Amino acid sequence: MPIKNRFAELLPEITEWRRDMHENPELMYELPRTAALVAERLRAFGCDEVVEGIGRTGVVAVIKGKTDSAGKAIGLRADMDALPIHEITGLDYASKTPGVMHACGHDGHTAMLLGAAKYMAETRNFDGTVVLIFQPAEEGGAGAKAMIDDGLMTRWKIDEVYGVHNAPGVPVGEIVTCPGPLQASSDEFEIIVTGQGGHAAEPHKAVDTTLAAAQIVVTLHTIVSRNVDPLGRVVLTVGTFETDSNQSNIIPDTARMEGTVRCLEPEARALAEERVRRVAEDTASAFGAKAEVIWTPGYPVTVNDATSVDYAAEAAAAAGLKVDAEAAPIMPSEDFSYMLEERPGAYLFLGNGDSAQCHHPAYNFNDEAIPFGCSFFAELVERRMPAA
Ligand code: NI
Repeated sequence: MPIKNRFAELLPEITEWRRDMHENPELMYELPRTAALVAERLRAFGCDEVVEGIGRTGVVAVIKGKTDSAGKAIGLRADMDALPIHEITGLDYASKTPGVMHACGHDGHTAMLLGAAKYMAETRNFDGTVVLIFQPAEEGGAGAKAMIDDGLMTRWKIDEVYGVHNAPGVPVGEIVTCPGPLQASSDEFEIIVTGQGGHAAEPHKAVDTTLAAAQIVVTLHTIVSRNVDPLGRVVLTVGTFETDSNQSNIIPDTARMEGTVRCLEPEARALAEERVRRVAEDTASAFGAKAEVIWTPGYPVTVNDATSVDYAAEAAAAAGLKVDAEAAPIMPSEDFSYMLEERPGAYLFLGNGDSAQCHHPAYNFNDEAIPFGCSFFAELVERRMPAA
Protein backbone atom coordinates (compact mmCIF):
# COMPACT_ATOMS: atom_id res chain seq x y z
CA MET A 1 0.00 0.00 0.00
CA PRO A 2 1.56 3.31 -1.03
CA ILE A 3 1.38 6.70 0.71
CA LYS A 4 -1.41 6.90 3.21
CA ASN A 5 -4.34 8.56 1.47
CA ARG A 6 -4.87 10.91 4.37
CA PHE A 7 -1.55 12.61 3.65
CA ALA A 8 -2.58 13.26 0.08
CA GLU A 9 -5.61 15.10 1.50
CA LEU A 10 -3.50 16.97 4.05
CA LEU A 11 -0.75 17.92 1.59
CA PRO A 12 -2.06 21.42 0.71
CA GLU A 13 -2.38 22.28 4.40
CA ILE A 14 1.06 20.89 5.35
CA THR A 15 2.60 22.69 2.37
CA GLU A 16 1.06 25.92 3.60
CA TRP A 17 2.62 25.43 7.06
CA ARG A 18 5.98 24.72 5.44
CA ARG A 19 5.92 27.78 3.22
CA ASP A 20 4.81 29.99 6.09
CA MET A 21 7.84 28.84 8.11
CA HIS A 22 10.03 29.33 5.06
CA GLU A 23 8.86 32.91 4.76
CA ASN A 24 9.49 33.56 8.47
CA PRO A 25 12.80 31.87 9.34
CA GLU A 26 14.33 32.13 12.82
CA LEU A 27 17.82 31.31 14.08
CA MET A 28 19.29 29.04 16.74
CA TYR A 29 17.35 29.23 20.04
CA GLU A 30 15.50 32.42 19.08
CA LEU A 31 12.35 30.81 17.67
CA PRO A 32 9.46 32.78 19.21
CA ARG A 33 7.20 32.58 16.16
CA THR A 34 8.09 29.08 14.99
CA ALA A 35 7.93 27.36 18.39
CA ALA A 36 4.66 29.10 19.29
CA LEU A 37 3.04 28.07 15.99
CA VAL A 38 4.23 24.48 16.38
CA ALA A 39 2.82 24.29 19.92
CA GLU A 40 -0.45 25.94 18.88
CA ARG A 41 -0.98 23.46 16.04
CA LEU A 42 -0.10 20.46 18.23
CA ARG A 43 -2.73 21.60 20.74
CA ALA A 44 -5.27 22.07 17.95
CA PHE A 45 -4.63 18.48 16.79
CA GLY A 46 -5.63 17.27 20.26
CA CYS A 47 -2.22 16.01 21.45
CA ASP A 48 -2.44 14.72 25.02
CA GLU A 49 0.38 16.93 26.25
CA VAL A 50 2.23 19.88 24.71
CA VAL A 51 5.15 21.38 26.60
CA GLU A 52 7.12 24.41 25.46
CA GLY A 53 10.50 25.62 26.67
CA ILE A 54 12.34 22.29 26.75
CA GLY A 55 16.00 22.95 25.88
CA ARG A 56 15.17 26.67 26.07
CA THR A 57 12.83 26.85 23.06
CA GLY A 58 12.13 23.23 22.09
CA VAL A 59 8.59 21.83 22.01
CA VAL A 60 7.56 18.33 23.11
CA ALA A 61 4.15 16.78 22.46
CA VAL A 62 2.66 13.44 23.43
CA ILE A 63 0.10 11.37 21.54
CA LYS A 64 -1.22 8.28 23.27
CA GLY A 65 -2.36 5.32 21.22
CA LYS A 66 -5.72 3.57 21.63
CA THR A 67 -4.03 1.33 24.17
CA ASP A 68 -0.74 1.19 26.02
CA SER A 69 -0.14 -2.44 26.96
CA ALA A 70 3.65 -2.40 26.90
CA GLY A 71 4.30 1.14 28.11
CA LYS A 72 6.55 1.82 25.14
CA ALA A 73 7.37 5.31 23.83
CA ILE A 74 8.85 6.25 20.48
CA GLY A 75 10.43 9.67 19.94
CA LEU A 76 10.21 11.37 16.54
CA ARG A 77 12.37 14.44 16.05
CA ALA A 78 12.34 17.48 13.77
CA ASP A 79 14.57 20.58 13.87
CA MET A 80 13.09 24.09 13.56
CA ASP A 81 15.98 26.54 13.06
CA ALA A 82 17.14 28.36 9.92
CA LEU A 83 20.58 29.64 8.82
CA PRO A 84 22.28 33.05 8.56
CA ILE A 85 22.28 32.95 4.75
CA HIS A 86 20.68 35.44 2.37
CA GLU A 87 18.09 33.70 0.19
CA ILE A 88 18.32 34.06 -3.62
CA THR A 89 15.54 31.65 -4.68
CA GLY A 90 13.15 34.42 -5.80
CA LEU A 91 10.21 32.28 -4.57
CA ASP A 92 6.98 34.08 -3.79
CA TYR A 93 7.29 32.69 -0.25
CA ALA A 94 11.01 33.47 0.05
CA SER A 95 12.37 34.64 3.41
CA LYS A 96 11.06 38.03 4.52
CA THR A 97 14.09 38.39 6.81
CA PRO A 98 17.21 39.57 4.98
CA GLY A 99 20.24 37.39 5.75
CA VAL A 100 18.21 34.54 7.27
CA MET A 101 16.72 31.59 5.40
CA HIS A 102 15.65 27.98 5.73
CA ALA A 103 18.62 26.74 3.71
CA CYS A 104 18.70 23.28 5.29
CA GLY A 105 15.05 22.32 4.95
CA HIS A 106 14.24 22.35 8.66
CA ASP A 107 10.97 24.06 7.67
CA GLY A 108 10.15 20.86 5.76
CA HIS A 109 11.21 18.60 8.63
CA THR A 110 8.98 20.49 11.07
CA ALA A 111 6.04 20.53 8.64
CA MET A 112 6.32 16.77 7.98
CA LEU A 113 6.37 15.92 11.69
CA LEU A 114 3.38 18.23 12.26
CA GLY A 115 1.57 16.44 9.42
CA ALA A 116 2.32 13.04 10.93
CA ALA A 117 1.19 14.35 14.34
CA LYS A 118 -2.15 15.50 12.94
CA TYR A 119 -2.77 12.09 11.39
CA MET A 120 -1.67 10.15 14.49
CA ALA A 121 -3.77 12.32 16.82
CA GLU A 122 -6.80 11.61 14.58
CA THR A 123 -6.28 7.88 14.20
CA ARG A 124 -4.27 6.73 17.27
CA ASN A 125 -3.88 3.45 15.51
CA PHE A 126 -1.09 2.16 17.76
CA ASP A 127 -0.44 0.63 21.17
CA GLY A 128 1.88 2.92 23.11
CA THR A 129 3.03 6.53 23.16
CA VAL A 130 4.50 8.83 20.54
CA VAL A 131 6.70 11.68 21.74
CA LEU A 132 7.09 14.45 19.16
CA ILE A 133 10.33 16.39 19.55
CA PHE A 134 10.72 19.81 17.89
CA GLN A 135 14.20 21.04 18.65
CA PRO A 136 15.92 24.43 18.36
CA ALA A 137 19.50 25.21 17.34
CA GLU A 138 20.55 22.23 15.25
CA GLU A 139 22.84 24.52 13.24
CA GLY A 140 25.76 24.75 15.65
CA GLY A 141 23.89 25.32 18.92
CA ALA A 142 23.49 21.69 20.08
CA GLY A 143 19.75 22.13 20.64
CA ALA A 144 19.31 18.35 20.86
CA LYS A 145 21.74 18.26 23.77
CA ALA A 146 19.94 21.15 25.47
CA MET A 147 16.67 19.19 25.30
CA ILE A 148 18.34 16.03 26.63
CA ASP A 149 19.92 18.05 29.48
CA ASP A 150 16.39 19.27 30.25
CA GLY A 151 15.28 15.68 30.83
CA LEU A 152 13.75 14.88 27.42
CA MET A 153 14.55 11.15 27.44
CA THR A 154 13.70 10.41 31.08
CA ARG A 155 10.71 12.72 31.60
CA TRP A 156 8.89 11.18 28.64
CA LYS A 157 10.44 7.70 29.06
CA ILE A 158 11.52 7.53 25.43
CA ASP A 159 12.67 4.06 24.32
CA GLU A 160 13.70 4.73 20.70
CA VAL A 161 14.29 7.86 18.61
CA TYR A 162 14.03 8.49 14.88
CA GLY A 163 14.65 11.51 12.71
CA VAL A 164 14.67 12.42 9.03
CA HIS A 165 16.74 14.93 7.06
CA ASN A 166 16.11 15.89 3.45
CA ALA A 167 18.75 14.92 0.90
CA PRO A 168 19.33 17.00 -2.25
CA GLY A 169 20.34 14.78 -5.16
CA VAL A 170 18.38 11.78 -3.89
CA PRO A 171 15.15 11.23 -5.87
CA VAL A 172 11.88 12.16 -4.17
CA GLY A 173 10.28 9.04 -2.70
CA GLU A 174 13.60 7.47 -1.72
CA ILE A 175 15.11 7.10 1.70
CA VAL A 176 18.78 6.34 2.34
CA THR A 177 20.61 5.43 5.52
CA CYS A 178 23.00 2.84 6.93
CA PRO A 179 23.60 0.94 10.17
CA GLY A 180 26.40 2.24 12.42
CA PRO A 181 28.17 5.55 11.77
CA LEU A 182 26.14 7.72 9.36
CA GLN A 183 27.59 11.20 9.91
CA ALA A 184 30.96 12.35 11.26
CA SER A 185 31.83 14.05 14.52
CA SER A 186 33.15 17.59 14.23
CA ASP A 187 35.74 18.87 16.72
CA GLU A 188 37.86 21.98 16.50
CA PHE A 189 41.29 22.81 17.83
CA GLU A 190 43.38 25.92 18.26
CA ILE A 191 47.13 25.72 18.87
CA ILE A 192 49.12 28.68 20.17
CA VAL A 193 52.89 28.24 19.85
CA THR A 194 55.22 30.49 21.82
CA GLY A 195 58.94 30.70 21.04
CA GLN A 196 61.40 33.52 21.52
CA GLY A 197 61.26 36.28 18.93
CA GLY A 198 64.34 37.92 17.52
CA HIS A 199 66.26 39.07 14.47
CA ALA A 200 65.87 36.93 11.39
CA ALA A 201 69.63 37.07 10.80
CA GLU A 202 70.40 35.76 14.29
CA PRO A 203 68.15 32.72 14.77
CA HIS A 204 70.64 31.16 17.18
CA LYS A 205 69.71 33.87 19.69
CA ALA A 206 66.00 33.15 19.28
CA VAL A 207 63.58 30.20 19.36
CA ASP A 208 62.03 30.14 15.89
CA THR A 209 58.30 30.04 16.54
CA THR A 210 57.41 29.79 12.84
CA LEU A 211 59.58 26.72 12.29
CA ALA A 212 58.20 24.97 15.40
CA ALA A 213 54.63 25.76 14.37
CA ALA A 214 55.22 24.67 10.77
CA GLN A 215 56.66 21.37 12.04
CA ILE A 216 53.53 20.93 14.16
CA VAL A 217 51.35 21.29 11.03
CA VAL A 218 53.38 18.65 9.21
CA THR A 219 53.41 16.26 12.17
CA LEU A 220 49.65 16.68 12.81
CA HIS A 221 49.12 15.07 9.43
CA THR A 222 50.82 11.90 10.62
CA ILE A 223 47.92 11.34 13.04
CA VAL A 224 45.59 10.27 10.23
CA SER A 225 48.26 8.35 8.30
CA ARG A 226 50.16 6.73 11.22
CA ASN A 227 47.95 6.60 14.34
CA VAL A 228 44.40 6.03 13.12
CA ASP A 229 43.40 2.56 11.89
CA PRO A 230 43.88 2.61 8.10
CA LEU A 231 40.27 1.42 7.80
CA GLY A 232 39.09 4.21 10.10
CA ARG A 233 37.58 7.26 8.51
CA VAL A 234 39.14 10.45 9.86
CA VAL A 235 40.00 13.78 8.28
CA LEU A 236 42.18 16.46 9.88
CA THR A 237 42.66 19.90 8.35
CA VAL A 238 44.60 22.91 9.57
CA GLY A 239 42.59 25.81 8.21
CA THR A 240 44.37 28.88 9.58
CA PHE A 241 48.03 29.70 10.31
CA GLU A 242 49.37 33.09 11.38
CA THR A 243 52.23 34.61 13.39
CA ASP A 244 52.55 37.93 15.16
CA SER A 245 55.32 39.01 12.75
CA ASN A 246 54.48 41.16 9.75
CA GLN A 247 58.09 41.54 8.57
CA SER A 248 60.32 39.15 6.66
CA ASN A 249 63.29 39.94 8.94
CA ILE A 250 61.56 39.23 12.27
CA ILE A 251 61.28 35.93 14.08
CA PRO A 252 57.87 36.11 15.81
CA ASP A 253 57.11 35.40 19.44
CA THR A 254 53.88 33.53 18.77
CA ALA A 255 52.13 31.57 16.08
CA ARG A 256 48.53 30.40 16.03
CA MET A 257 46.67 27.83 14.00
CA GLU A 258 43.13 26.43 13.91
CA GLY A 259 41.88 23.18 12.52
CA THR A 260 39.10 20.63 12.52
CA VAL A 261 38.95 16.87 13.00
CA ARG A 262 36.07 14.82 11.59
CA CYS A 263 35.68 11.15 12.52
CA LEU A 264 33.24 8.39 11.68
CA GLU A 265 34.34 6.21 14.62
CA PRO A 266 33.85 7.48 18.19
CA GLU A 267 37.11 5.75 19.28
CA ALA A 268 39.13 7.57 16.63
CA ARG A 269 37.81 10.85 17.98
CA ALA A 270 39.33 10.32 21.44
CA LEU A 271 42.58 9.12 19.87
CA ALA A 272 42.76 12.17 17.61
CA GLU A 273 42.37 14.57 20.53
CA GLU A 274 45.06 12.83 22.55
CA ARG A 275 47.46 12.82 19.58
CA VAL A 276 46.83 16.46 18.59
CA ARG A 277 47.75 17.53 22.13
CA ARG A 278 50.83 15.29 22.27
CA VAL A 279 52.11 16.24 18.80
CA ALA A 280 51.69 19.97 19.43
CA GLU A 281 53.22 20.00 22.91
CA ASP A 282 56.09 17.63 22.27
CA THR A 283 57.02 19.02 18.84
CA ALA A 284 57.12 22.54 20.28
CA SER A 285 59.21 21.27 23.16
CA ALA A 286 61.75 19.73 20.76
CA PHE A 287 62.33 23.23 19.36
CA GLY A 288 62.51 24.84 22.80
CA ALA A 289 59.07 26.40 22.26
CA LYS A 290 55.74 25.83 24.03
CA ALA A 291 52.36 24.90 22.59
CA GLU A 292 48.98 25.42 24.17
CA VAL A 293 46.13 23.33 22.71
CA ILE A 294 42.51 24.41 23.04
CA TRP A 295 40.22 21.56 22.02
CA THR A 296 36.55 22.42 21.41
CA PRO A 297 34.35 19.35 21.09
CA GLY A 298 31.56 19.64 18.53
CA TYR A 299 28.80 17.22 17.57
CA PRO A 300 29.49 13.50 18.17
CA VAL A 301 29.45 10.80 15.50
CA THR A 302 25.86 10.03 14.42
CA VAL A 303 25.63 6.29 15.06
CA ASN A 304 22.54 4.42 13.91
CA ASP A 305 21.41 1.35 15.81
CA ALA A 306 21.38 -1.53 13.29
CA THR A 307 18.10 -3.03 14.52
CA SER A 308 16.40 0.36 14.45
CA VAL A 309 17.62 0.85 10.88
CA ASP A 310 15.91 -2.43 9.99
CA TYR A 311 12.63 -1.27 11.59
CA ALA A 312 12.87 2.09 9.81
CA ALA A 313 13.70 0.50 6.46
CA GLU A 314 10.74 -1.88 6.72
CA ALA A 315 8.42 0.98 7.64
CA ALA A 316 9.70 3.14 4.78
CA ALA A 317 9.21 0.33 2.28
CA ALA A 318 5.71 -0.33 3.63
CA ALA A 319 4.95 3.39 3.25
CA GLY A 320 5.81 3.11 -0.45
CA LEU A 321 9.32 4.56 -0.36
CA LYS A 322 12.29 3.15 -2.20
CA VAL A 323 14.89 2.26 0.45
CA ASP A 324 18.67 2.04 0.40
CA ALA A 325 19.72 0.99 3.90
CA GLU A 326 23.37 0.37 2.97
CA ALA A 327 24.32 3.88 1.83
CA ALA A 328 27.79 5.34 2.42
CA PRO A 329 28.18 7.64 5.45
CA ILE A 330 28.83 11.36 4.96
CA MET A 331 31.24 13.75 6.74
CA PRO A 332 28.94 16.71 7.69
CA SER A 333 27.90 16.42 11.34
CA GLU A 334 24.43 16.46 12.89
CA ASP A 335 23.26 17.01 16.45
CA PHE A 336 20.69 14.19 16.36
CA SER A 337 23.89 12.30 17.28
CA TYR A 338 23.31 13.34 20.92
CA MET A 339 19.90 11.65 20.91
CA LEU A 340 21.39 8.49 19.40
CA GLU A 341 23.97 8.47 22.19
CA GLU A 342 21.07 8.30 24.67
CA ARG A 343 18.71 5.87 22.97
CA PRO A 344 18.75 3.36 20.10
CA GLY A 345 17.28 4.74 16.93
CA ALA A 346 18.01 5.77 13.38
CA TYR A 347 18.54 8.86 11.26
CA LEU A 348 17.50 8.74 7.63
CA PHE A 349 17.88 10.90 4.52
CA LEU A 350 14.73 11.60 2.54
CA GLY A 351 15.07 12.40 -1.17
CA ASN A 352 14.71 16.11 -1.99
CA GLY A 353 15.11 15.56 -5.74
CA ASP A 354 17.24 17.70 -7.99
CA SER A 355 17.64 20.76 -5.73
CA ALA A 356 20.51 23.02 -4.71
CA GLN A 357 22.63 21.61 -1.89
CA CYS A 358 21.78 22.28 1.76
CA HIS A 359 23.29 25.54 3.10
CA HIS A 360 23.24 27.08 -0.41
CA PRO A 361 21.32 30.38 -0.90
CA ALA A 362 19.33 28.81 -3.78
CA TYR A 363 18.26 25.76 -1.77
CA ASN A 364 14.59 24.97 -1.16
CA PHE A 365 12.85 22.06 0.52
CA ASN A 366 10.82 20.01 -1.97
CA ASP A 367 7.14 19.89 -0.96
CA GLU A 368 6.65 16.73 -3.02
CA ALA A 369 8.66 14.93 -0.34
CA ILE A 370 6.14 15.83 2.38
CA PRO A 371 3.72 12.87 1.99
CA PHE A 372 6.66 10.46 1.97
CA GLY A 373 8.13 11.84 5.20
CA CYS A 374 4.74 11.94 6.94
CA SER A 375 3.86 8.41 5.82
CA PHE A 376 7.21 7.11 6.98
CA PHE A 377 6.73 8.51 10.50
CA ALA A 378 3.17 7.20 10.75
CA GLU A 379 4.02 3.78 9.34
CA LEU A 380 7.00 3.45 11.69
CA VAL A 381 4.84 4.12 14.73
CA GLU A 382 2.05 1.79 13.61
CA ARG A 383 4.52 -1.02 12.86
CA ARG A 384 6.74 -0.62 15.94
CA MET A 385 3.73 -0.41 18.26
CA PRO A 386 0.94 -2.28 16.42
CA ALA A 387 -2.57 -1.62 17.67
CA ALA A 388 -3.80 -4.43 19.91
NI1 NI B 1 19.99 20.38 8.52
